[in-house]
Amino acid sequence: MYPIHRNRRLRSSSSLRSLLQEHQLTPNDFIVPLFVVEGSQLKEPIASMPGYFRLSLDLLASKAKALWNKDIKAVLLFVKVAEQLKDNTGKEALNPEGLMQKAIGVIKNAVPEMLVMTDVALDPYSSYGHDGIVEEGKITNDKTVSVLAEMAVSHAQAGADVVAPSDMMDGRVLRIREQLEEASFHDTLIMSYSAKYASAFYGPFREALDSAPGFGDKKTYQMDFANRDEAFVETQRDIEEGADIVMVKPGIAYLDIIRDLKNSFHTPIAAYQVSGEYAMLKAAAAQGWIDHDQVMMEQLMSFKRAGAQLIATYFAEEAIEFL
Ligand code: PBG
Repeated sequence: MYPIHRNRRLRSSSSLRSLLQEHQLTPNDFIVPLFVVEGSQLKEPIASMPGYFRLSLDLLASKAKALWNKDIKAVLLFVKVAEQLKDNTGKEALNPEGLMQKAIGVIKNAVPEMLVMTDVALDPYSSYGHDGIVEEGKITNDKTVSVLAEMAVSHAQAGADVVAPSDMMDGRVLRIREQLEEASFHDTLIMSYSAKYASAFYGPFREALDSAPGFGDKKTYQMDFANRDEAFVETQRDIEEGADIVMVKPGIAYLDIIRDLKNSFHTPIAAYQVSGEYAMLKAAAAQGWIDHDQVMMEQLMSFKRAGAQLIATYFAEEAIEFL
């Protein structure tokens, strides 16, 4: 009751504000997505992701070292697969000498302690640009899951610490867990994209990896953005199937989902601030319409506030400068 309680008293100096800050960001919050291409000495710009690049294998070691020196402990690998290696079986995804498998090796070699996380989904390998095997215009579930489980084991064999299925097929976490156990990869973690929405925010990423769906959309496997309870069900099932970390994606528009999950489960939650979110901030800042750095930090902090323990973000390197 006024004036005994004055809420502003708690904000009256910078020292007090620091002491009372409820959440902090540290480099341990970040997962850095890396886009890898065949070739050498390639640092290819991505038009819709200014300041972000596709890197060839030979540049990965120095990149990993630079990130490690900035206290980054985790990278999430994505590959851009040559057109002639794409098909409707995901065969190339299982190639022990494939781009992903080689990239894992390069990074583990350069910085053994760096946590290497890998994208497990067929879209970069699919001639249809879909996350699964296509039959009669439909994305099959169980056949896809078989390939994903083999793919996860292949990544573990190459040295991955964490496999991250981003495909949203049913039952894939269980199959992946079973096959990892069978192959004695007891300590390989599964970070499951458990609440992944069918989102137009992925546009720039699909440009980066040349992985846009060739027909239709991804709405039979990714979630409807009108749904909230469904995120709970999807996540609960993934946890039951053995997910070690669950993920919500995209980021800022889905903070309610992160908070729901945080209130319901005790499994660590990762948020993915996706390519379209990065593009929007870069574009507005380039026009001089908003303050890039301040908005970036405000957005990243909002993930912590919502309840995320990890944030996959294209801003990680830039953000670390402000911590
Ligand atoms: C593919 C995948 C996508 C992203 C991560 N893994 C795109 C998609 O589902 O179409 C998007 C990441 C981003 O936009 O930054 N399985």
